[in-house]
Amino acid sequence: MTAELIRGTVVAEQIRGEIAAETARLRETRGVVPGLVTILVGEDPASQSYVSAKSRTARELGFHSVQHTLPASTSEAELLDLLARCNADPALHGILVQLPLPKQIDEQRVLGAIRPEKDVDAFHPVNVGKLLLGNPDVLPCTPAGIHELLLRSGTELDGAEVVVVGRSNIVGKPIAVMLAQKAPGANATVTLCHTRTRDLAAHTRRADVLIVAAGRPKAITAEMVKPGAVVIDVGVNRVGVTDKGKARLCGDVDFDAVREVASKITPVPGGVGPMTITMLMRNTLRAAQRAAG
Ligand code: GUN
Repeated sequence: MTAELIRGTVVAEQIRGEIAAETARLRETRGVVPGLVTILVGEDPASQSYVSAKSRTARELGFHSVQHTLPASTSEAELLDLLARCNADPALHGILVQLPLPKQIDEQRVLGAIRPEKDVDAFHPVNVGKLLLGNPDVLPCTPAGIHELLLRSGTELDGAEVVVVGRSNIVGKPIAVMLAQKAPGANATVTLCHTRTRDLAAHTRRADVLIVAAGRPKAITAEMVKPGAVVIDVGVNRVGVTDKGKARLCGDVDFDAVREVASKITPVPGGVGPMTITMLMRNTLRAAQRAAG
């Protein structure tokens, strides 16, 4: 069996069409243009490329898009000062601080300083808490994108065995919470695996749905996957340079081998990545709609 591809690029394009239409309507009916500010501290090449993709997509959708690029030597106080100004600016509905931050800056203090209504990443403790309680105002972007891909590919989640590999605050923990929720499109039995899991393969082989955000190229081999499983690869590993001089990407899953075992699989690139950015745009649009009342 060769797995069907879950094409995030195609799904993301559809959703962006819906967002662009709603954005035009909000502007025409309420005179409100969704505003997104992205803040990058330092010069990490991967972060630079993510942030410029986020700003560019916002512009393409007709948003007001502002990008701040600060030097790696920026102090926490300077960043908090910029956040205070963004919090107070009525033209900005969404604030995104790209992670990771340089080591002199306390990440949790920064995320906690963003007004929860403008927290389009859903990283503020209030938004994390509301998600855990099953009552979210906003969903974190990568988990929301994964959930959309599962729903739109017709993957049954109710009662399914879901195994998540990786316990990050950005992906692993929130997607585990979302899929275990007592709610339609969830109700899964979720196992959260991590670097201290004793026998990873014993868990992954039980998965109907395997979500991998381990940060390690080809961490998941064909022998670790149950035949017919749905595999979502969240990994973005830079493993060289393409002919065009761009970073060559590979996921956390040994794609060529696992493709022969799984029933559905996301490619890297073109799987989860485009969905993450699209969910950020949807969160920003919703924040603008809420602000408009
Ligand atoms: N770094 C890696 N993923 C993300 C994300 O989804 N949001 C932000 N702000 N930083 C990230």
